[in-house]
Amino acid sequence: MTSGYKGMSPSGPTDFDKPVLEVRGVTKQFPIRTGILGRKQFHTAVDHVDLSIKQGKTLAVVGESGSGKTTLGLMVLDLLKPTSGEILYRGQPFSSRSGSNKRALRREMQVVFQDPYASLNARLTVREALTEGMVIHQIGTGPQDRERRALELLDHVSLPAETLDRYPHEFSGGQRQRIAIARALSVEPGFILLDEPTSALDVSVQSQVLNLLIKLQREFNLTYLFISHNLEVVSYLADDVAVMEKGRIVEQGPVDDIFDRPAEAYTRRLLAAIPRIGTSIR
Ligand SMILES: Nc1ncnc2c1ncn2[C@@H]1O[C@H](COP(=O)(O)OP(=O)(O)OP(=O)(O)O)[C@@H](O)[C@H]1O
Ligand SMILES: [Mg+2]
Repeated sequence: MTSGYKGMSPSGPTDFDKPVLEVRGVTKQFPIRTGILGRKQFHTAVDHVDLSIKQGKTLAVVGESGSGKTTLGLMVLDLLKPTSGEILYRGQPFSSRSGSNKRALRREMQVVFQDPYASLNARLTVREALTEGMVIHQIGTGPQDRERRALELLDHVSLPAETLDRYPHEFSGGQRQRIAIARALSVEPGFILLDEPTSALDVSVQSQVLNLLIKLQREFNLTYLFISHNLEVVSYLADDVAVMEKGRIVEQGPVDDIFDRPAEAYTRRLLAAIPRIGTSIR
């Protein structure tokens, strides 16, 4: 993976100070039901959200269940269209992209969900899972080269070579999440959305996967948007944090500032919910 890894392309290393991802005034409304007289009603899941993340950094979005985190994440992946507002990747608005430019975005921005079953097809061997994206995005010179890359990916996530011929169900939750991470990396992304990537795992396995994510971020200069309601994990992994309440960002800034001196009662409530043991990790 060292040779030919293009995680920083196409902008290259000169743009370090420019945000990789910018979310500008993004709102998402879902129709809920048709009221009397046929008037449409809407639920505002994401409400005028502004965010930006710099190259190689991690921004965490925290908030209670239903606050709009996943909806925001799906818009950032261009899987859900905002009702209004604009999202830019490396300065280019999603709305101005089409054709090959849109395909490039699909490659650049990857995701790891809480449930690896959601991202891993049970019918595909790990070899197929790791090379499928390479074929789509024309990475590698042929099957042999792609297999070599797949083996390198397994090495990066500390799984043995024989993993290649096995199926997702043959692995533990933590191992499956490593495979999902390798799969995300297989297309050489610059950005990864992590939506509760360790929430379904045992605590001991959680920290291994978190440490792996930190290691990979350094190795490949990855930019992360990290969605979580576990503030302990957030304080461990994130540079900045945005606190989301009912679709709105109520405060954001460096994670140490926000967690040490929360301005909002809502943030203090979230912090108070951290188990006592949580303070030891910091
Ligand atoms: N496709 C949809 N249609 C209608 N309402 C939706 C849809 N998706 C999400 N919502 C609503 O939008 C709100 C935000 O949901 P979302 O899944 O983004 O929250 P979340 O912060 O990710 O919660 P959790 O921590 O439980 O994962 C919720 O009220 C949810 O019911
Ligand atoms: Mg969610």
